[in-house]
Amino acid sequence: SFLSMEKEPVTVLVTGAAGQIGYAIVPMIARGAMLGPDQPVILHMLDIEPAAESLNGVKMELIDAAFPLLRGVVATTDVQEACKGVNIAVMVGGFPRKEGMERKDVMSKNVSIYKAQASALEKNAAADVKVLVVANPANTNALILKEFAPSIPEKNITCLTRLDHNRALGQISEKLNVHVGDVKNVIIWGNHSSTQYPDVNHATVTTSGGEKPVRELVANDQWLNTEFITTVQQRGAAIIKARKLSSALSAASSACDHIRDWVLGTPKGSWVSMGVYSDGSYGIQWSIVQGLKIDEFSRGKLDATAQELIEEKSLAHSCLN
Ligand code: NAD
Ligand code: LMR
Repeated sequence: SFLSMEKEPVTVLVTGAAGQIGYAIVPMIARGAMLGPDQPVILHMLDIEPAAESLNGVKMELIDAAFPLLRGVVATTDVQEACKGVNIAVMVGGFPRKEGMERKDVMSKNVSIYKAQASALEKNAAADVKVLVVANPANTNALILKEFAPSIPEKNITCLTRLDHNRALGQISEKLNVHVGDVKNVIIWGNHSSTQYPDVNHATVTTSGGEKPVRELVANDQWLNTEFITTVQQRGAAIIKARKLSSALSAASSACDHIRDWVLGTPKGSWVSMGVYSDGSYGIQWSIVQGLKIDEFSRGKLDATAQELIEEKSLAHSCLN
């Protein structure tokens, strides 16, 4: 029967669910934007005590929206309960930066959250839980989570650079006046910060005459090597300046893209960006694209963002001591 063919629900945790990104992402998940239109979901939403009433309001709205794929909602301030049986963990909980701050300026507030929640996940989540850290500084929070959840396979702990990837696609699409869906294979190297390196050296656009390199179509290395890079690097700050709040709908949508492509895969010949624990080898669920040619310009940018990550790591450890 049709009934017996239905998939088992997948349990998705969203931390910081009463916040801005939380409010944007839970309806996307409940509509199938993260795991597909035939995948029932159970949502676990975690926030802290001062946000408990507001979190309960989000739960009421999820019920009121009558999402057919949504098979259960838990709204809680108990981190152990929130992590129970979780298959996918989207870690948004924490504090956003304000205008004029760098993302690492929220480090001392946020890394301690990731240390504590690592243990709760390790203890309560499914053994093969897939973790996406969104809260900033995202790469370093993910590293701390990995260190304090040693039994979760390190390949299952990732952070969000897909928003930067999507921003890069958006800038190319605007510049060339082509559909964003026809642009692919940009790369975000390094930190989700102003040292990140959005690389278009391998990016292409599908045109009526076949696949063309972005560098050939833009035919303006000056723009690609300066304004394009700084626009993507500084886009988060530009959104904060304009909205007086950090990005939320684009962050939520990109987090859905990240999980969807991780679980369901990317089309042959294309890749996407995610922050992963780097060991240089191929993995089972995702793999690092190997063998790309890195020119001298790219080399300098890669080294700068890697250096920043090393500094953040030691800063994070000093915050926890
Ligand atoms: P927000 O302040 O609107 O929401 C954050 C929520 O987290 C709040 O409801 C807060 O109560 C909750 N929270 C705080 N401590 C918590 C804890 N210990 N456990 C559970 N919940 C907790 O912020 P937002 O705009 O939704 O942004 C959330 C985070 O995501 C920020 O750190 C922001 O900088 C980051 N962010 C990252 C990206 C990215 O691309 N990686 C993009 C956008 C935002
Ligand atoms: C973003 O890139 O929009 C987020 O990391 C929020 C921020 O602080 O810039």
